[in-house]
Amino acid sequence: MSKISRVIARQVFDSRGNPTIEAEVFSGNLSCSAICPSGASTGTYEAFEKRDKIKRKYLGKSVFKAINIINNKIAKKLKNKNVHNQEKIDTILINLDGTKQKINLGANSILAVSIAVKKLSAKIKKVPLYSSFLIKKNFKLPFPMMNIINGGAHSNNGLRIQEFMIRPDGAKNFSQAVQMCFLVIQNLKKIINKRGFSTSVGDEGGFAPMISKNEEALNMIVQAIKKSGFKNGKQISICLDVAANELYKKNKYSIHSNKYITAEKSVNLFKKIITKYKIKSIEDPFAENDWKSWNMLMKKIKKVQIVGDDIYVTNLQRLKIGFLNKSSNSILIKLNQIGTVTETLEVIKFAHAIGFSTIISHRSGDSEDTFIADFAVGTNSSQIKSGSLARSERVSKYNQLIRIEESLGKKAKMNKIH
Ligand code: PGA
Ligand code: ZN
Repeated sequence: MSKISRVIARQVFDSRGNPTIEAEVFSGNLSCSAICPSGASTGTYEAFEKRDKIKRKYLGKSVFKAINIINNKIAKKLKNKNVHNQEKIDTILINLDGTKQKINLGANSILAVSIAVKKLSAKIKKVPLYSSFLIKKNFKLPFPMMNIINGGAHSNNGLRIQEFMIRPDGAKNFSQAVQMCFLVIQNLKKIINKRGFSTSVGDEGGFAPMISKNEEALNMIVQAIKKSGFKNGKQISICLDVAANELYKKNKYSIHSNKYITAEKSVNLFKKIITKYKIKSIEDPFAENDWKSWNMLMKKIKKVQIVGDDIYVTNLQRLKIGFLNKSSNSILIKLNQIGTVTETLEVIKFAHAIGFSTIISHRSGDSEDTFIADFAVGTNSSQIKSGSLARSERVSKYNQLIRIEESLGKKAKMNKIH
């Protein structure tokens, strides 16, 4: 048993320059820290993110109240607890909060501590972090889904769809996966430049050219894939995150243009672009409570990964509803949507049991913390979303996966996309 001797927290800053929490957990003279990420297109049912909401202080965005909670309430409760008993520690945190959406303590304070505990446990045991989750052998590397054109709430270009991603399906190993994405990104940069648009990047490191039509973005990506010598839909596949919550009003959607149309019509237009651009994965095609439309899409399109993010918010109860309703075949996993490592693992276990693929995800406001890279490997997740190959907070996760691949040596294999 290794006892927790001290828990402290400090205010640091995320990739958007907003305040966030770093928690540090100590056992004797060893310690580990973790930084909580933050979303922009958040789901209504996500766990609560506690901010001070005092206008004259960081425009309301500071997190000193949450930090106080860690330094006092949480630190007191966790003192002398066994750092290796993650479930017990997470249960203490959940009970100390006592609400469904972690409104009292804030999921940001809880998660920063929960992750720091997990890291410290691995450090004390002197085992790689990735080996301390669900699987203990046959580790596999996830396929990266790189967000190479940013739209929606992540940029101000007016593009309807939030994320245009590429997934290097033909990669034999993770390093090759990154190399393939690198080539497409560099070629895309040239194409965007040639068209006279800016090649500056959005929140997740993807380009954010001032185009507003989805098909314009898709055409440029197809061109970049070709120019890189790959076959679209074979070696490289296009994947989308629609983030449809943001494009929903009175039962209608403005996904395909700025005109609001019915879900039925949207499904037909989805079908069209899926066929034309050989799209392999679509996240949040409809809004978080529109279970009917999700099911309609599942019935009408086959062999496409349909991913629930805002609809499930990494919440077991919501995933169960989705399973019964046949809403999707995949779930996006964001630890701060639910708030503890243990609850996140429960969701992943259930998702795998019902045959869903799991995609571990960063948030649009992220940091240098690379926990999710190890988490993706250790939970046998087939994919990881960490933005493009730009901005260190995005690239750091891919770099950590390169290190993990190296440490696994010849045993390293890519996961399977089903
Ligand atoms: P968010 O975006 O972190 O702003 O929610 C990521 C996503 O929607 O997948
Ligand atoms: Zn999403």
